[in-house]
Amino acid sequence: MCGIFAYLNYCVPRTRKEIFETLVKGLQRLEYRGYDSAGIAVDGDKNTTTDGINNNNIVLIKKNGKVKALDEELYKKDCMDLEMELDTHFGMAHTRWATHGEPSALNSHPHRSDKNNEFVVIHNGIITNYKELKKYLNSKGYEFESETDTEVIPKLIKYVYDNREREDLSFSTLVERVIQQLVRSPLLIGVRSKYELSAEHIPIQYNTGDRSQNSSNWSSSTDRWTGDSKGTSCRVVLSHNRPDIANAVNFAEDGKAVEYYFASDASAIIEHTNKVIYLEDDDIAAVVGGKLSLHRLNRLAGEVPVRAIQTLQMELQEIMKGNFEAFMQKEIFEQPESVFNTMRGRICFDTNKVILGGLKDHLKEIKRCRRLIMIGCGTSFHAAVATRQALEELTELPVMVELASDFLDRNTPVFRDDVCFYISQSGETADTLMALRYCKDRGALTVGVTNTVGSSISRDTDCGVHINAGPEIGVASTKAYTSQFVALIMFGLMMSEDRISLQTRRLEIINGLRILPELIKKVLTLDKNIKSIADELYEQRSLLVMGRGFNYATCLEGALKIKEIPYMHSEGILAGELKHGPLALIDKHMPVIMIIMRDACYTKCQNALQQVTARSGRPIILCCQDDPEVSKNAYKTIELPQTVDCLQGILSVIPLQLLSFHLAVLRGYDVDCPRSLAKSVTVE
Ligand code: F6R
Repeated sequence: MCGIFAYLNYCVPRTRKEIFETLVKGLQRLEYRGYDSAGIAVDGDKNTTTDGINNNNIVLIKKNGKVKALDEELYKKDCMDLEMELDTHFGMAHTRWATHGEPSALNSHPHRSDKNNEFVVIHNGIITNYKELKKYLNSKGYEFESETDTEVIPKLIKYVYDNREREDLSFSTLVERVIQQLVRSPLLIGVRSKYELSAEHIPIQYNTGDRSQNSSNWSSSTDRWTGDSKGTSCRVVLSHNRPDIANAVNFAEDGKAVEYYFASDASAIIEHTNKVIYLEDDDIAAVVGGKLSLHRLNRLAGEVPVRAIQTLQMELQEIMKGNFEAFMQKEIFEQPESVFNTMRGRICFDTNKVILGGLKDHLKEIKRCRRLIMIGCGTSFHAAVATRQALEELTELPVMVELASDFLDRNTPVFRDDVCFYISQSGETADTLMALRYCKDRGALTVGVTNTVGSSISRDTDCGVHINAGPEIGVASTKAYTSQFVALIMFGLMMSEDRISLQTRRLEIINGLRILPELIKKVLTLDKNIKSIADELYEQRSLLVMGRGFNYATCLEGALKIKEIPYMHSEGILAGELKHGPLALIDKHMPVIMIIMRDACYTKCQNALQQVTARSGRPIILCCQDDPEVSKNAYKTIELPQTVDCLQGILSVIPLQLLSFHLAVLRGYDVDCPRSLAKSVTVE
């Protein structure tokens, strides 16, 4: 939900063109977070006035549409000398996912305090009390240009600054005062002013050990960092209560010059540096005179934050598309490696031991719990549905699966002896995070399952598992789903290690996991076959996906993929519910995919198949190889290798991921930028 990127070069000569390129590249890496409009703010060239938007030496350039459109716009500004070298400079950039106000250049960020661009802001999140603030500021004569909630921030900064009387108000204090007036959901603000405000410096303390209170596998490595400072008029404050913001630092050789990158996500800065600081809720970071300082929002508490510099393990090529047409396609094809990486170092195939380092210290407590509650949204919720039965079997505990928003709406009773899992690729989903806070307040043990090291969920939970699928850039989640699936199964295996009655079953599943990457490779060879099915289906309006038991989650997940990327109406139907309503939809025109695997539901699924064919339905059937009984009733089949029943869903979802991709391409849509969606849903 909105991507934020800022770049500061201090005593490092960079041309205007290089600065533009850095900002645009950063935004492009974050485009998956929102792409309906984009904008930048940069220092104007000295003594230049532009087309009315820049008369205070800060230029705002905003454009409706994707970052590419903004990029083209940048070079149309004749007032900017592209070859001009700037030793010390700051620029910030934003790509938007609209919440308040339609997508348009006017509503896109940065927003400004006044026509002089005295204070300029980029922001991610929602200001829930913006209407009251706007009304108040209107009454004080402030005029608003956009329909956004964000615009109240620069206006409020200006208001507080103009009414400071004689108080010597540092810039970061000014920002701090304003933030305290905002009722906010996860929030990030970048503010830039060229005015000479004195900023307070509080030295940062770095720890060289584990930054998290959680166990070592759940946290990441840290590093040391030192800085230097020189006087300059350039002032930057970046403040937020969103810990998915990476602040990267990069030093030139003389140890004095410095470059800073501020970004919503580490993927935007990995090509510049692998050293990052993750800010925590209510941290305020300020850079003055090339020196970074950090303090807590309520500095009266006297707390000096300890924030370690972390080393990113990510490689640049992981966030590049390579030879694939889209990130989604690349990530589908990465699944043999990504599920392997989820298991790497955690399963010993000789001893049949499974150790998830981030959970092992809490295992006794988990075993004593009253029930497991699995909470997530969208695809992450489906991973919980997919593994529920196996977890019930392996843990011998009641397992509830919950959509985070519904769980909160119901004020679900939660107890101290509950164990609550938060499943989230990004680790930042607002609804899931709110559910986490809700359960924490009620004393439950909280367990994160996330792909993002340093994310809010991995920091705020008591313990957890990183799924290690590698960066997922495609808005449609694919490899994260299969890795979440595997991670949850591994949790079940870990819980059942001392259950004699479950050893045969454990062994069967562990052996299934061992060969899983190879089986995924086999499924991926079906791509051409699936493309030909897409050729037949792409003009249809609707597509039903039906199954039950271990493959019901595949129906939900497949239908979600078909909705979100090709924008085709699709429903995942529990085959057991067919005769309770959905059967009315079946006729020879309605495309239906049925999942019929050789498991405990095989006979029941065949009954459903009979009911479909009896109504002239023409089902495309996902089935196991060599199943003539099923094939003879199918309009078409997609034959999959057979694996252990509780792992079959990992294989059965892949054809539907591929189908969604091909349908979207055939319908002419941008696979990685589905309309109205964004990767990290950081608003409720
Ligand atoms: C669907 C999709 C979404 C996410 C959901 C939760 O392809 O990506 O449904 O799964 O928004 O996101 P995370 O897993 O980041 O919490």
